[in-house]
Amino acid sequence: MEKCDVVILGAGAAGLMAGIEAARRGRSVRVLDHARRPGEKIRISGGGRCNFTNRLLTRQNATERFLSRNPRFALSALSRYTPADFIARLDAAGIAWHEKHLGQLFCDGKATQIIDLLLRDLRAAGGELSLETSIDRVEREGEGFLVTTSQGPIRAASVIVATGGKSIPKMGASSLGYEIAQRFGLEIVETRPALVPLTFAEQDLARTAPLSGLARPVDLRLGKTHFAEDLLFTHRGLSGPAILQISSYWREGDTLRVDLAPGDDIAGALAEQRDAAGRQALHNALARHLPEKLAQFVVAEAKLKGRLAEQSNKDLAKLDDQIHRWQVRPVGSEGYRTAEVTLGGVSTDALDAKTMEAKQVPGLYFIGEVVDVTGWLGGYNFQWAWASGWAAGQVA
Ligand code: FDA
Repeated sequence: MEKCDVVILGAGAAGLMAGIEAARRGRSVRVLDHARRPGEKIRISGGGRCNFTNRLLTRQNATERFLSRNPRFALSALSRYTPADFIARLDAAGIAWHEKHLGQLFCDGKATQIIDLLLRDLRAAGGELSLETSIDRVEREGEGFLVTTSQGPIRAASVIVATGGKSIPKMGASSLGYEIAQRFGLEIVETRPALVPLTFAEQDLARTAPLSGLARPVDLRLGKTHFAEDLLFTHRGLSGPAILQISSYWREGDTLRVDLAPGDDIAGALAEQRDAAGRQALHNALARHLPEKLAQFVVAEAKLKGRLAEQSNKDLAKLDDQIHRWQVRPVGSEGYRTAEVTLGGVSTDALDAKTMEAKQVPGLYFIGEVVDVTGWLGGYNFQWAWASGWAAGQVA
């Protein structure tokens, strides 16, 4: 029977990072994955250029930018393996990158450069990778574990679970990591799709259908949480970075408040135009400030009609409300089919924040997205995968 020190389940961002680090410490490492290719989510991420980290992540803002039942859990790993550490790795390998807005870092070339680098580093450290290998069971055996796979059983001193979340099942996402956690008695914080487009009920869709494809910078608010980013109207509801971000906070029944023209006093400008250019239809006057279809939509939502000259100050105040405080209540999300990540997962209460080891099951580790740590859009989720993988790789 094959024996090794560390078996890693999942050859994604977190699993490959943990494998490299453990192998560099001289541990015999085997990374298993049921997919045909490793790191598939790295390959498709960031439009093929992988938004691999975020330069603006700090210890101070991490508890806000990572959602978890215990937002402080991620701090230890994130402060020991930082964005600068991953950047240094890419720089040393000659992988060029650039910064987009809000500190988001992307490869200049293809995301596959990062996968190739991780695979090279794993091989160089002596780690082994077995693809197209399904995992049947993980059981305790003495002090270690017996992992039963489609390629035969493996005895391992440590098992690192890095099987990711549930999003995009057709790319190999599965519930294996959650099932293993439950079998060993670890709590699972309820999972739900996050960083995901939100959907409207039929009657709302009928009103917003003409706006499908329209994108604009907005200020999107849900309670105290708000994001100043682009919003995109779709034929199912709303998407774009602002919506993906707020989707991690949104729950069924919540109403979103949207400022469709942040910082523009459009109603004030219309009030000034009322005397000089009052003969034009209200929606035409508004179309000088907003895209035409949006102008028509806003006027209809405010239930206003007629010429600009006919609008009272109260009417313009109603229009102002629709522009700056548009209230919208999605009914659901597009689900795991399109979600970028899974909120919830293996409870951080069950894990050691420094090592990612299960407190009650020595030798069993959980890293990456399978853990109840979910980052904002913009490179935060890969940074968690690198950092948690690195942390487990130092000790497993
Ligand atoms: P990951 O999902 O990467 O890896 C898990 C591995 O486990 C996979 O290789 C899978 O095949 C394997 N596995 C699963 N079940 C198994 C089983 N039963 N048996 C064997 N193997 C199994 N984040 C970010 O920071 N910047 C970005 O630009 C993007 N962009 C992006 C785009 C899209 C379309 C998606 C879906 C996601 C993103 N993300 C992102 C999120 C990011 O991809 C994600 O958070 C990380 O890949 C998580 O890394 P993990 O290693 O934890 O899981």
